[in-house]
Amino acid sequence: MCGILGIVLANKQVNVAPELFEGAMFLQHRGQDAAGIVTSGNKGRLYQCKGNGMARDVFTQKRMSNLVGNMGICHLRYPTAGSSASSEAQPFYVNSPYGISLSHNGNLVNSSELRNYLDEEVHRHINTDSDSELLLNVFAAELDKFNKSRVNNGDLFTALAKTMGRIRGAYACVAMLAGYGIIGFRDPNGIRPLLIGERVNQDETKDFMLASESVVLKAHGFKKFRDLKPGEAVIIKKTGEPEFNQAVSPKIFAPDIFEYVYFARPDSVLDGKSVYRSRIEMGMKLAKKIQKTMQGEDEIDVVIPVPDTARTSAFQCSVSLGVPYREGFVKNRYIGRTFIMPNQQERRSSVRRKLNAMDSEFEGRNVLLVDDSIVRGTTSKEIVAMAREAGAKKVFFASCSPPIRFNHIYGIDLADTKALVGFNRSVEEISQIIGADKVIYQDLEDLVECCKTGQVDEFEVGVFTGNYITGVEDDYIQELEKIRAQNQRIEEFQKSGGQNGFSVDACIDQGDLIDVKADVDISIYNGGDH
Ligand SMILES: *[C@@H]1O[C@H](CO)[C@@H](O)[C@H](O)[C@H]1NC(C)=O
Ligand SMILES: *[C@@H]1O[C@H](CO)[C@@H](O)[C@H](O)[C@H]1NC(C)=O
Ligand SMILES: *[C@@H]1O[C@H](CO)[C@@H](O)[C@H](O)[C@H]1NC(C)=O
Repeated sequence: MCGILGIVLANKQVNVAPELFEGAMFLQHRGQDAAGIVTSGNKGRLYQCKGNGMARDVFTQKRMSNLVGNMGICHLRYPTAGSSASSEAQPFYVNSPYGISLSHNGNLVNSSELRNYLDEEVHRHINTDSDSELLLNVFAAELDKFNKSRVNNGDLFTALAKTMGRIRGAYACVAMLAGYGIIGFRDPNGIRPLLIGERVNQDETKDFMLASESVVLKAHGFKKFRDLKPGEAVIIKKTGEPEFNQAVSPKIFAPDIFEYVYFARPDSVLDGKSVYRSRIEMGMKLAKKIQKTMQGEDEIDVVIPVPDTARTSAFQCSVSLGVPYREGFVKNRYIGRTFIMPNQQERRSSVRRKLNAMDSEFEGRNVLLVDDSIVRGTTSKEIVAMAREAGAKKVFFASCSPPIRFNHIYGIDLADTKALVGFNRSVEEISQIIGADKVIYQDLEDLVECCKTGQVDEFEVGVFTGNYITGVEDDYIQELEKIRAQNQRIEEFQKSGGQNGFSVDACIDQGDLIDVKADVDISIYNGGDH
C-alpha cells in the first residue's frame, strides 16, 4: 500500500514541488519506507528527487529548490514483498518513449507472466522485483507501438486500455509524460483508491490534483473532487480541462475493505464513505457481537483501545456497551525507525518501545482491549501480557475485523499465510495463543455493512475468506512467499553486518543485482538552468 499524488498548476511560473511536498505530509501514513517526487519543467525536462525514508527527510529544502516545473507526481512507499529489500523508490522512470514516470499504489498478481512478456516479446529490461516497474514498462511498450514522434490523448487512452488488458491485480496510478501532462487510472475492480479534484484560482484558471485520499484535496483547497471509477482513466494536459475515458469495462466494484479497517486516515472519504463513520459503525456492531458472545462471562469493567487506529471504534463500542472508556496505553510518538547496529540484539520488543500501560487503568479490572485487527498475533500477545502485568483481572480482546486467515495480495504486505495467527485456527485456539481470556471477532457481514455506500456494496475481503476478487491466485502467492523468504535472507545478512557466514551471493537468486543506489537519487536532471 502506498500514497500517490499528482498536481498540474495552471500558472507555469509556479513550481509545484512545495505543494507536492505538503501533500505528501497528508499521505505519509500510507508509506514511510521511501518517498519521491518528479516534476516537469517548461522545456519538458524531468527533475527528480527520491530516496529511502520519510518525506521530510528526503525532501530537504535544498533538494526541493532543484525541482522545477508546474506539474509533477509524488509517491510514498509502503514496503511490499517486491520492493522492501531494494532501495528502488518511486516514481519509476523510462526515457523511451517520450519520458514517462509513474507512481503506483497496489500490486500486480500476474507479474511473472508480465516479466516473461517484457523479456521475450518487447525486449525491455527490468532491474528490480517491483511490479510497478513492470507496469510502467508494459505501458511504455504499448506507446512504442504507435511509432509516432508525438502522441495525443486518444493514443494514450488506447495504450492504457491495452496495458490494463495485460495486467491483473490492484492498481491506482499517476503517471507523467514529460512536457505533456499527467495521467491517472484505476484498476477495473477499483481495489485501490484514487480521486481527482479541481481548484479555481483568482484569475479563473484551474489547478488539478490526483490523490490517494480525499484529505489532501480538501486540505489544499481542491473543493470539487470525486473518486475515479473502476477502470477509468483521466488525462490532465498541461493546459486545459481533464479528459476522462472508461479505458476498460469495469468489473465488480470491490474496494479493499482494509482501507476502512486500518489504512486510510479517519478524515478521508473514500468511494463515498467516511472512514471515520465506518469505524464508528464498526464499534457499534462489535458491541452487539460482544453482548451476544459474552453472556455467562464476567462483566467488562472498562474498554481500552490499542492505539491509534482502533480508538474511534473502541470509543463507540464503550458507549454502545455502556461501559467506561479509558486510554490505558500511551503511545510514544517519537519512536520512528530504530537503528539496529550490526550484531546488536533488540532488547525490547517493538510493542513495548511504542506503548506503555498505565497500572491505574488496569488494576483489578476486567478489561476489554479493542484493536483494528489481529495479524500474526505477536503484537496482540505482547499487549495482553502488558495488560496483565499492569494488574488486569481478566483480559478480553476484540478485533474490529474478522480473523485474518489468508495472505493480502493487493499491496498490504501482512505476512505469509502460515505466519498468520488466524490461519487454520479456531477462535479458541487464537485466544490461547495470544493469552487472552476470550477473543471476539467482528463478523464479516457486519464489517461489510459498516463500509457500504450508495456507490459500493461489495469489497475485496480475500484476507478473511481466501476468495480474491481477481480470481484464484495460488501461483502468485507462492511467488510472493519466495520473494519474502529471499528478502528475509538479505535482511538477516545486512543485520549481521555480513558476519554470519552468508555471502552476498548466497542471499540472492542468480541473475539479480544487489541494489547499490545512493540513499537519495536526483539522477534524471537537476541542472538548474531553467
Ligand atoms: C495477466 O492477466 C490478465 C487477466 O487474467 C490476462 O488477460 C493477461 O494476458 C495476463 N498477462 C500476461 C502477460 O500473461
Ligand atoms: C516508424 O516510423 C518511421 C518514421 O516514420 C519509419 O521510418 C519506420 O519504418 C517506422 N517503423 C516501423 C517499425 O513501423
Ligand atoms: C490444519 O490443522 C489441522 C489440525 O489442527 C492439521 O491436521 C492440518 O494439517 C492443518 N492444515 C494445514 C493446511 O496446515
